[in-house]
Amino acid sequence: MENPKANVTPTYVTQPSLPELEEFYPYLQKIWENKILTNNGPFHQQLEKELAVFLDVPYVSLFANGTLALVTALQVLRITGEVITTPYSFIATTHSLWWNNIKPVFADIESEFGNLDPEKIEAAITPKTTAILPVHVYGNPCKVKRIQEIAEIYGLKVIYDAAHCFGVKHLGQGICNFGDLSILSFHATKVFNTMEGGAIICHDEGTKRRIDYLKNFGFAGETTVVAPGINSKMNEMQAALGLVQLKHYQTNIAKRKNIADYYRQGLLDVKGITVLAEPYETESNYAYFPIFVNEREYGLNRDQLYDKLKQNKIFGRRYFYPLISEFSMYKGLDSAKPDNLPVAEKMADKVICLPIYPDLEIETAINICRIIKSK
Ligand SMILES: Cc1ncc(COP(=O)(O)O)c(C=O)c1O
Repeated sequence: MENPKANVTPTYVTQPSLPELEEFYPYLQKIWENKILTNNGPFHQQLEKELAVFLDVPYVSLFANGTLALVTALQVLRITGEVITTPYSFIATTHSLWWNNIKPVFADIESEFGNLDPEKIEAAITPKTTAILPVHVYGNPCKVKRIQEIAEIYGLKVIYDAAHCFGVKHLGQGICNFGDLSILSFHATKVFNTMEGGAIICHDEGTKRRIDYLKNFGFAGETTVVAPGINSKMNEMQAALGLVQLKHYQTNIAKRKNIADYYRQGLLDVKGITVLAEPYETESNYAYFPIFVNEREYGLNRDQLYDKLKQNKIFGRRYFYPLISEFSMYKGLDSAKPDNLPVAEKMADKVICLPIYPDLEIETAINICRIIKSK
């Protein structure tokens, strides 16, 4: 029996977390008093420092959003030619290459977590390859050690799109320590949001300085411009919100974990529905809860289940379908051919991300499991 409650209030894949307004007012008051609205203001500086400690990384450079952080990360390392990347991600990953006039080369993913398969990277390397752009998809770590080995053998840079990874720890350290650079997104839908926002994480002061020039038109001083930089600075309101959001992070993650545990338990014995394993040696952030539908065993295909959930006002999302390689601007690439990406094709055709956010009621999660089970 489906719970009639499901027919009343729509449940979306996510709902942004916000602190109580009262908690934010004093920060706004401060901005209104000192009239510093942007350009590396006091809240911006404070958030960069607090995040470096919180994320267990050396340097954080804040951005207006994650996409501009990605575009800038490629420029900081002067990446050109071809970059090997995954088709199983949000479109911004590949768009960041396009904006830099770099040719994306898609390689297939592994089926365990849906991340770029290191064993497929080597075959995609050409004399023009300069870097690898993997994504820790759903916040689950890539095979970082193997990717680093390959990068060292072939002299390639590694930039991680860690947009889903805020707060994740892997192999005893902050996930953003791996690779040459990592980028984060603080978009409204992410586990930590500044409404819009993002960051580049780097390992040394010189690189941080160059990143900071590039996000501010290339200005290195009052009258010196060292590169054709862009304006991608985070403003003081975003930074202030980040400082408040950070105080609630642990509580929010505990609530997300609780929901994830219910889904795991509730879907355990549903034939034809699989979930991802818990990643090894990882402190997760429970950013997403993807399920995969095997039509033959479950009896309905993915889109039929997706529609059925919708009829019950449960709005999951098919992240990541279609694959980036299927969009018109990338489809013509040799590496975009479905034959080159069989695992990604399969995952994209089976996936539904179920609703998960701190304020999601356990009853709703139970009800979602009930709908999935009821067929
Ligand atoms: C994997 C991935 N990369 C990049 C982005 C872009 O981040 P933003 O929306 O902050 O520009 C997103 C999401 O929004 C994402 O999911």
